[in-house]
Amino acid sequence: MVRFSFQHRTAFAAALLVSLPLMAQAAPATPTPPVPPHQKWSFDGPLGRFDQKSLQRGFMVFNQICSTCHGMRSLTYNDLSGIGLSQQAILDLAHAKQVPGPADAAGDPTTRPGLPDDHLRSPFPNEAAAAAMMGGVAPPDQSRLAAIQPYGADWLYAFLTGYHMPPPPGAPVVPGKFYNDWADGHLIGMPPPLMDGGVEFPDGTPDTAVQQARDVTTFLVWASDPHRNDRHRTGLYVFAYLSGLLVLAIAWKRKIWNRGKTRNAQDADDR
Ligand code: HEC
Repeated sequence: MVRFSFQHRTAFAAALLVSLPLMAQAAPATPTPPVPPHQKWSFDGPLGRFDQKSLQRGFMVFNQICSTCHGMRSLTYNDLSGIGLSQQAILDLAHAKQVPGPADAAGDPTTRPGLPDDHLRSPFPNEAAAAAMMGGVAPPDQSRLAAIQPYGADWLYAFLTGYHMPPPPGAPVVPGKFYNDWADGHLIGMPPPLMDGGVEFPDGTPDTAVQQARDVTTFLVWASDPHRNDRHRTGLYVFAYLSGLLVLAIAWKRKIWNRGKTRNAQDADDR
C-alpha cells in the first residue's frame, strides 16, 4: 500500500497552493452566454399563472411537431389533465401511439396502443438509433429543457425563432447543421421546426411560427414544473391566512393594551 508521509502531504499541498494562481491564469476565460431578450410571460413572478389556452396550443405544437423527434418522459398522458384536456382526449391521444408491449409466445417484441398511464416517450427505440437518424446527435428529452436553460423561457423562445435561412454572410456552413443565433457556435443539428401555418389552432389564434414558439415555450415551462399553478394558489391561501392572523393579533394586542391603559388611568384617579 502506498502511504503519503506527513512531509509528502505538506509538500503536495504547498505545490498545489503555489500552482493555483497559475491554473487560474491558464484556464481560458469562459465566455458569458448572451442574454436573450426578455419576453412577457403569464407565468412570470410569484403570482404568475399558466395561461391554459396557450398551454393547450403549445401541447398541439409539441404533439404534432416536436414529439416526432423528442420524448418527454417525465409526463404521462394522464398528466395532461393539468392543462385542461378531457379524459376522452387523453385516451384518444394515448391510443393513437404504438408503444412496446410484452414479448409474444415466440419471444419476439410486440407493440400495443398507448394507455393514459404511459409516458411521452421518445419516438426512437434508443439513444443510439436517435443519434444515427439525426446526423450524430440525439434529440434531447424535453422534460426539463426549460429548467436547465439558464434563461429558460426567454432562451427557448429566442432559440425557436432564431433560425436564419440562408445563414448570414460569413457564417460557417456545415452540411447537416443549421444556423441559429442562439445555438452553441450558431450551429445546430435540428432543422427549423416551426413555420407559419405548420399547426392549425382551433381557437382561431393566428398560427404564425412566432405564436407557435410562444405557446410551445409555455408548454415546455409547464412540463418542467407542472405544479406551479397549484403551488402559487396554495401560497396565496397561506398568505391570506397569515395576513388574517396578523390582523387578529394586532386587534387583540390593542384590546389588551387598552384595557391595561384604562386600568392604569383608574389606578391614578384612585390615588
Ligand atoms: C426533425 C427532428 C426534430 C424536431 C421535429 C424537433 N427537434 Fe429539437 N432537436 C433535434 C435534434 C437532433 C437536436 C440536437 C441537435 C444538436 O444538439 O445539434 C435537438 C435539440 C433541441 C433543443 C436543444 C438545443 C440546445 O442547444 O440545447 C431544443 C431546445 C429543441 N430541440 C427544441 C425543440 C422543439 C421545441 C421542437 C418542436 C417545436 C423541436 N425541438 C423539434 C431534432 C428535432
